[in-house]
Amino acid sequence: MITFDGVSKRFPDGTLAVDNFSITIPSRTTTVFVGSSGSGKTTLLRMINRMVDPTGGAIRIDDEDVSTLEPVALRRRVGYVMQNSGLLPHRTVVDNVATVPLLTGVPKREAREAALQLMDTVGLDRALAERYPSQLSGGQQQRVGVARGLANDPNILLMDEPFGAVDPLVRSELQQELLRIQKELAKTIVFVTHDIDEAFLLGDQVVILSTGGRIAQVGTPEEILAHPADEFVDNFIGAERGRRALSIKNVHGKDVVVDGTGRLAGILRVPSGESSRTV
Ligand SMILES: Nc1ncnc2c1ncn2[C@@H]1O[C@H](COP(=O)(O)OP(=O)(O)OP(=O)(O)O)[C@@H](O)[C@H]1O
Ligand SMILES: [Mg+2]
Repeated sequence: MITFDGVSKRFPDGTLAVDNFSITIPSRTTTVFVGSSGSGKTTLLRMINRMVDPTGGAIRIDDEDVSTLEPVALRRRVGYVMQNSGLLPHRTVVDNVATVPLLTGVPKREAREAALQLMDTVGLDRALAERYPSQLSGGQQQRVGVARGLANDPNILLMDEPFGAVDPLVRSELQQELLRIQKELAKTIVFVTHDIDEAFLLGDQVVILSTGGRIAQVGTPEEILAHPADEFVDNFIGAERGRRALSIKNVHGKDVVVDGTGRLAGILRVPSGESSRTV
């Protein structure tokens, strides 16, 4: 469990990036921070592994105040997938994945073998191991970033817009892959995005942020969709409302499900063993 207790961050130039932020992040589930650019998402994430230290309040991991933990030891327990993959361009894929274990003294052969296994985990062909990041597609680079975050088998995985830079199809593939990996590994994931669709797909808990890391609403995707806390949240998820507001329409004598723009959205699957049908 990760706890933010009245956490603030004011940068030396006076910018108040995070203002009195409190939340509990349960273990072995995915919490998504979603908000527009500059709302403090990256700052919040980086305070968990002490890449940034708060100027007020405290962050605890399983009741241990992170400010009392040695940053290097902390980062061994906390994997980090950077915004824009953050791969080292002059290192091969396998060495990129093995970065943290190598830094923390794991013998090279062992670290490389573990890295190859992680490539399997994230669905990367081992034949790519000796390539350099620039010789990979955007989606493959993102997978390397995820594999690197998982090296050292951390309990906590921080992911900062990990799929932001790829096209929608690849993005959707990577999202499904993450859902699969999470089912298998059950890490405590803190995932940052500005995409509300991605937040609702991946998050067990979704935190909608406004400027200054202010919490507009926390809840499950269902709770937020069913009961937006205020106008800000309503607007934030509202851009998608047209598509989300499904209704049943009679087309050529048949009832089908359409979205707010009138496009066919699909069919309703009837539960309890009955075959699916178009309603
Ligand atoms: N080192 C810094 N010094 C001063 N201000 C900073 C620093 N880092 C971030 N900020 C400011 O803090 C605020 C929050 O930044 P942060 O990077 O956390 O936002 P974000 O939600 O991750 O945005 P994005 O979606 O664009 O990545 C912004 O106003 C930003 O300009
Ligand atoms: Mg950011």
